[in-house]
Formats: sequence, structure tokens, C-alpha cells
Amino acid sequence: DRGEYRHFMAKEIHEQPEVVGRTLAHYLDMATGQIRLPFEAKFDWAKLERLTISACGTAYYAGLVAKYWFERYARLPVDIDVASEFRYREAPMARNGLALFISQSGETADTLAGLRYAREQGQHVLAVVNVPTSSIARESDVVAPTLAGPEIGVASTKAFTCQLTVLACLAIAAGLARGALSAAEGEALASELIAVPGLLAEALKSEDRIQELARDISRVSDVLYIGRGTSFAMALEGALKLKEISYIHAEAYAAGELKHGPIALIDETMPVIVIAPRDGLFEKTVSNMQEVAARGGRIVMISDRETVGEAGVDDLRAIEMPRMAPNFAPIVYAVPVQLLAYHTAVVLGQDVDQPRNLAKSVTVE
Ligand code: F6R
Repeated sequence: DRGEYRHFMAKEIHEQPEVVGRTLAHYLDMATGQIRLPFEAKFDWAKLERLTISACGTAYYAGLVAKYWFERYARLPVDIDVASEFRYREAPMARNGLALFISQSGETADTLAGLRYAREQGQHVLAVVNVPTSSIARESDVVAPTLAGPEIGVASTKAFTCQLTVLACLAIAAGLARGALSAAEGEALASELIAVPGLLAEALKSEDRIQELARDISRVSDVLYIGRGTSFAMALEGALKLKEISYIHAEAYAAGELKHGPIALIDETMPVIVIAPRDGLFEKTVSNMQEVAARGGRIVMISDRETVGEAGVDDLRAIEMPRMAPNFAPIVYAVPVQLLAYHTAVVLGQDVDQPRNLAKSVTVE
């Protein structure tokens, strides 16, 4: 039931404060700020030598965000690849390794094949899945569920932010178990997570502004998304969302890579979506943005209001996010990239919930 919404995708975008809150409460005691994983880990985080992450599409981008989190908070080396590559790569795997698979449906053929490969290689197998009865859930040693509820829109939205929420909790738990985070640091990160559902609700208030900008985006044939660190992963997710439902060509680049080639594309017709929450890499992203502005690129900056004001670019269009601590910004910044893709597709009259050539569950390779 779509309720008051025109499409399932819109409904699912708006459900995010609730489903992320529900997922979070399953992993974190909201009163005490203690992480409480809802499963018994059959491995010891402290003894792991390597984490290998694999998934497809949007679930892969959730894994890419998590790579930064596991490396930073748990000091755990991470290898990540799309499942269609991982399954055939003949990757040598660490002796005491954990393989992590992420899937909304739990039925994606390549992800399942990657899981079977990891098992043959003697890895512990952990799956973050939204469908608890799925093949991937059944074949894993340990299941970390996302509580997004059924996702009907073909483009993944609420499953993605719930995956990020679970992955954030896992990274904190790993950090504590490995002694990479002190108890106080773990609590500080947990309190940042507890703020996320409220921040998602705030982020949804940018919808009218995004609807305006979507009219401009709907007139172009190419869009570039840039960001650094976890925002690079969000740039990839933004570009995928736009491509799959609006059919506008979009590409994402790590902001620091622009000068190594893609900056040649920039002219007055090229919108560049800059994902720039106020974090440790912000200054670097801003200087890349200024390089784009100097070449006439049309900048759409996604950041909080104060930060946009400090960006030093005159001709800039902004999507304002709530001010927030930086660590879990990707969960909140998912909202504007989803809404921008959604409204662009609506302006163009596309079939948002059933984009051409796509299926919700990809059970063939
Ligand atoms: C994009 C999208 C796809 C899926 C991918 C993996 O919006 O929905 O890229 O994320 O096909 O699907 P699951 O998560 O079911 O394994």
C-alpha cells in the first residue's frame, strides 16, 4: 500500500527515520548507548586478520562506506569488491578472515556465489540481509538483519540506510572488541548514531528545494557526482540512483581524481553534485569544488547551511542538510541523493518503481 505517496519509492524514502530507528534499537541500547549485537558471533573480532566485503549495486556501496568505518574504528584491514568480480577472482583469503555479504533480497546470484567461495576458503561468513528467510541468510554462519521491512521500489532506499546502520554498529562493536576504540570513544560514536533518525527526519525537509533543482537536472544529459572518503561512496550511490530511475547518464568520482581526467568534461552545461558534509576531508573537497567552479561547472553542493556559507563559491546551488557530527553523515546524506534522483525521474515522467530493464531481485548471473 503506497498510502499518501505517488510511488513506493517516495514512501520508502520517507519511512527511513522510522526503519533506521527500529534497526538501530535492535543493535544498540538506546537508553545506555551500549552496542548489543542481536546474534552470537561465532568468531572473535579481536583475532580477525582481514575483513572481506562483497555485494552488488547499492548494497556494494553500503559496503564501501563500511570499509572506511571498519578501517577507522576497528583498525581492521578491509578488502571489498563487487560480487560478480569477487566470485571469479580466485582471491587468496586470510587464514582468520571474516567475509561479509550485504543484500536486501538475500537472493542475488553473484553475492550468493561469492559467499560460497568464501566458505570454501575457510572464512567465517556474516551476512547483512533484509529478508531473513533468504538463501544468503540460510547459508551464512551469522545473520545481521536489517529491519527495513519489505522494499517494493526497485531502486533500493530504506534497505540501504538500514544496511549502513547495521554496518556502523558492527564497526563500533569490532572496534571495542579489538581495543581500537576505548569505551568512551564507543559511547561517543553510539550517541552520534542515536541522533541519526532525528537527522533523517530533518533531511527530508529539503524535499521542496530538491524538487526545484530536479527540474534543472531533468534537462541535462550528464551529471557528475563527487566526494571524498565515505562521501565518495555516497557519490557513487547518488549516480547509480539517478541513472537507474531517470535514465540520465551520471558518473561519480573521488573528488581528488577529477584533475586526472574527468575535469576535462566540465563546462557550463555540466551539473556537478558535491557531497560535502563537514568532516575531516571537507577542506579538500571544497578546493576540488572551486576548481570545478573556475571552469564554469554548475555546482550543487550538499552540506549544512553554515558550511555552504563558508565554501567560497558564488554561483552555487545548495541542498541544506542539518548540522551533524561527521561520522555517520552517509546515512543522512543518502536522503538528498535519493530525493534528487526520485524527483528528476518524476519530472521526466519515468516509471519510478519499475525502471526499464531492471528487476528487484537478480537471481541469475
Ligand atoms: C539499486 C539496487 C540494486 C541492488 C542490487 C543488489 O538501487 O537496488 O543495485 O542494490 O541489485 O540487490 P540485493 O541487495 O537484493 O542483493
